[in-house]
Amino acid sequence: MADLQNCDFCSLNPLELFEQVTAQGEKVRSLKAEKAPKDEIDTAVKLLLSLKLSYKTATGEEYKPGSPPADFTPVSNGPGDTEDNDFVDPWTVQTSNAKGVDYDKLIVRFGSSKIDKDLINRIERVTGHKPHHFLCRGIFFSHRDMNQILDAYENKKPFYLYTGRGPSAEAMHVGHLIPFTFTKWLQEVFNVPLVIQITDDEKYLWKDMTLEKAYQCAIENIKDIIACGFDINKTFIFSDLEYLGMSPGFYRNIVKIQKHVTFNQVKGIFGFTDSDCIGKISFPAIQAAPSFSTSFPQIFNNKSNIPCLIPCAIDQDPYFRMTRDVAPRLGFSKPALLHSVFFPALQGAQTKMSSSDPNSSIFLTDTPKQIKTKINKHAFSGGKDTVEEHRKYGGNCDVDVSYMYLTFFLEDDDKLEQIKQAYTSGALLTGELKKALIETLQPLIAAHQQRRKQITDEIVKEFMTPRKLAFDY
Ligand code: TRP
Repeated sequence: MADLQNCDFCSLNPLELFEQVTAQGEKVRSLKAEKAPKDEIDTAVKLLLSLKLSYKTATGEEYKPGSPPADFTPVSNGPGDTEDNDFVDPWTVQTSNAKGVDYDKLIVRFGSSKIDKDLINRIERVTGHKPHHFLCRGIFFSHRDMNQILDAYENKKPFYLYTGRGPSAEAMHVGHLIPFTFTKWLQEVFNVPLVIQITDDEKYLWKDMTLEKAYQCAIENIKDIIACGFDINKTFIFSDLEYLGMSPGFYRNIVKIQKHVTFNQVKGIFGFTDSDCIGKISFPAIQAAPSFSTSFPQIFNNKSNIPCLIPCAIDQDPYFRMTRDVAPRLGFSKPALLHSVFFPALQGAQTKMSSSDPNSSIFLTDTPKQIKTKINKHAFSGGKDTVEEHRKYGGNCDVDVSYMYLTFFLEDDDKLEQIKQAYTSGALLTGELKKALIETLQPLIAAHQQRRKQITDEIVKEFMTPRKLAFDY
């Protein structure tokens, strides 16, 4: 891919370029208004055109007065920024609201688009499949450029899926299943290749963890991911610590990205400071690289422009805003995205489930008894304090964690609606609601553990071997 040659202002980021074009446009206007000498106006116009050209080269789009480059707009999370107190970045999810983060506001703040009824209908029409309940229930709620992926699919053009996981501990929790369950569904209905990045390098850089431990967690997590049912002929799973050293295509994309993103930009996007280690500062390039098909020459036969669709939790969006910002400057297409909500902690939707707090999570390794005890003891309830009050006023599903979990795991829409009605009216008590969740999760986790047991080292090795998949390019 040709790097930029004819870009006079390439040291500037898109937002800075936008501001320069705007300022220069104003200068030209005022020179004309005050009838300045012709050569002075000509020089100013030349500079304006050159700035506009650089802007177009940098963003892949024409300069439009009043609309700054969407993907680059830094997202301010600081207090006083908005009237709500939601804080969302790849490392922290916090809100003061028991109902959880306000996702509609997040869409506005991140500049993404809502997955609305029209888009869900189009997915159904184009694929001929009933939309996944994660779509209908707003669990995958936001997207970028999904319509372009559907256009490609309708025109029989290829695309691929990319998702990932940071292996922060050996055991995964039920919340981690959400993106993988959904990705498996996407792989089935679209019949496309899938790459799964395991960022053991990221966890080594961010956590107090040795390289050996990070890689060991990667392998253990990969077994859980395989147990979600991915097709071995259509899926490549890789550890960064392993694949980076094996693939010139992947590393070349990383350095291209590194060359086109400044420290200022990652500071703005991720909040890095001068005292963060340089490994963290360059890591976003590693998470960005799998969005470009040349990172996997063995799968895509060196084709450089196979579009990519990334299902992920919304907290990963900063990585992909950066990726989309840099893509046109490298001659690649921007990856499309599907964003999910967070999986709430047992204690309440103010934060997401975290592996490091055993009581906030239900692990994929938990026994039926542990599942029951944790839900009964820790799941935040929207019920009333006494049975009498509950019967009289009813419970509040909006803040009840057991009900929220059922929206993720109970597939039967009618049953879910019945539970909601009964709980809200007070007919169903908190203990009964918890029982419904326990009875939904116990078999689901037991079945997962059964599938995981069948996964041998050979199967893991095959998924992790760079190879051609069941698609020709
Ligand atoms: N950073 C992610 C995490 O900590 C892992 C990841 C890498 C990822 N690439 C991704 C997640 C692509 C979603 C999509 O879990």
